Parts: sequence; C-alpha cells; structure tokens
Amino acid sequence: MDTVLKDKLNEYCKRVELGIDEFLPDAHTRPKKLHSAMRYSISAGGKRIRPTLLLIASELFERKSDPTAAAVAVECLHTYTLIHDDLPAIDNSALRRGSPSCHTKYNEATAILAGDSLLTHAFRVLSEQYSTEPNLAILLIKELAQASSSECLIAGQQEDIENEGQAIDADKLLFIHAKKTAALLSAALKMGLYFCQPNESQLSMIALAGYHLGLAFQIIDDILDATSSSDLLGKPVGNDAAIEKSTYIVLLGLEGARSEAHRHTQKAIDAFKNLGGNNLTLLSLVSELEKRIN
Ligand code: IPE
Ligand code: IPE
Ligand code: MG
Ligand code: MG
Ligand code: MG
Repeated sequence: MDTVLKDKLNEYCKRVELGIDEFLPDAHTRPKKLHSAMRYSISAGGKRIRPTLLLIASELFERKSDPTAAAVAVECLHTYTLIHDDLPAIDNSALRRGSPSCHTKYNEATAILAGDSLLTHAFRVLSEQYSTEPNLAILLIKELAQASSSECLIAGQQEDIENEGQAIDADKLLFIHAKKTAALLSAALKMGLYFCQPNESQLSMIALAGYHLGLAFQIIDDILDATSSSDLLGKPVGNDAAIEKSTYIVLLGLEGARSEAHRHTQKAIDAFKNLGGNNLTLLSLVSELEKRIN
C-alpha cells in the first residue's frame, strides 16, 4: 500500500477511535459488565472499513457538518452484527479481531445484550448528535435502519444460516452476500454522501459502487477463510467449510471466486469514477481492498 494512502487511512481510523471513545458510555457505567463488553468488542481493533468509507464519501464534495458521529454509529451497528454472528447459535466462533469473541470473553447472555445495546446505541448517536439538523438526521437514520433491517442485513444472515449444508445456486448466494454484507457498506457510503447534499443520481451511483464493493468484500472474506491463517485474520479460518457454509468457493472454486471478486471490484471502480468528485482516495482504497490479507 502506498504511504500516502496508509497515512490517510490511519488518520480516519484515529478519528473513528476517538469518536468511539467519546460517544460510547464509559466502561464503568452500570451495569459494568454490559458496558465493558460493548467497549471490549468495539475497541478490539478491526479494519474500520465502514466508518472509513463513510468519512471518505463525506469528502467527495463540499460538506457542512461533522460526519464523525455517523461513522461511529455505523461501526456500532457493524460490531453488533459481529457479536451476534459469532454466537454459538449462528457461526459459533470463539475468536474475533484477534481476541476471544464477546460470548467467549464474557458469556452468551452478556454478548446478546451487548449486541442489542450497540444496535440501539447506533440510532441513539445519530438522533442525538444530529438533532440540530433534523433533515440530515432522518436521512442517516433511515439509511442505516433500512440496511440493517429484516429485509436486508438480517435477511442475509437468516438465509446464510438456513442454507448451511445445502447446495445453493448463484442467485441465492448473490442475495445472501448482497444483503448480509454489501447493504451496510453501501449504506455507509450513502450516509457519508448525505453530508454533501447529493442529488438522486449521485446517490444511486454511490449505492451501485457500494453494492459491487460489498460483494467483492464478502467474496474476499470467504477466500481468506479458506486460505489465510487465524493469526493474520484475527478470527478462525476454515470455519465456513467446517459448517458447510455456502460460499463462492463452493460454487465457483478458488480461482472462480477470485475472478468474481475482481469483476465486482472493477465495477465498483467504474461507478466511483462516474460519481466523480474527490474520488482518488476512494479509488485507491477499493483497489487495496481487493489485495487485502485480513
Ligand atoms: C467482517 O467484516 C464481516 C463481513 C462482512 C465479512 P470486517 O472484515 O470488516 O471485520 P472487521 O470490522 O475488520 O473486524
Ligand atoms: C458476516 O459474514 C456478515 C455479517 C453481517 C456479520 P461472515 O460470517 O462471513 O463474517 P465473519 O467471517 O464471521 O467475519
Ligand atoms: Mg456469518
Ligand atoms: Mg461469521
Ligand atoms: Mg467470513
């Protein structure tokens, strides 16, 4: 990765970390175990891709307000999905972001409740921090609510679980990946763009870019599960095969999955180019994400 991009990504991450510290309840807040579990999972590291995409998208055109709180809200929501995704009833994963997953470190009940709390907290942050800009607040809340709804992210998670051990066709797998992963990446980008008062065609262009970026992102996640090490990834590897998860690797083989990830990456790049604005950072980030190793 070139050092200019690396430095920029570090800056965005720092901003997100400071925001998390500012907008989350203190770990000593009663009940201590719940709040420390929330902070444990969200502070464990993680690439901060979604909040970073939000911050970069907010700089595509001229913007008026500070998007940091919105970036924190997206990371709260994402972390809740990871905590619940790791639960024994879902992917049963003991390691997350290089540390014991929330239910392993605390207990299952606390992990469920910490996830619930982070989900709610995302909307609390948006409604409180943008209360002086109600139009913006509503757009942000609506976008995040739609992406994380039972017809989107949770729909993807439900069908992901239902299809374990089943032979799956390409349409169904596309639905699962689009809903469980691409929807939130796309929402993060749109939320960032809302800070620039975008028009409809800019919004649909960034949503299209997010869709393809999200699909590439999940295919690469599946490839890494099959090919990487848990030291590098910070989460277990081989989990998908062990629980007979339907992935592009099962459907197309490793090389087929790689070329599908490349195809979607190129489509995301085309859409970001069409969108225009200050898109250079975004374009280099998208190319880097295809090469990511964790
Ligand atoms: C993991 O997301 C879940 C997927 C949608 C593949 P990330 O790979 O962004 O996880 P963190 O946030 O870096 O831990
Ligand atoms: C999870 O997909 C997508 C979510 C909505 C959390 P995975 O189950 O593949 O994510 P990892 O591999 O556990 O991070
Ligand atoms: Mg899962
Ligand atoms: Mg999982
Ligand atoms: Mg995975």
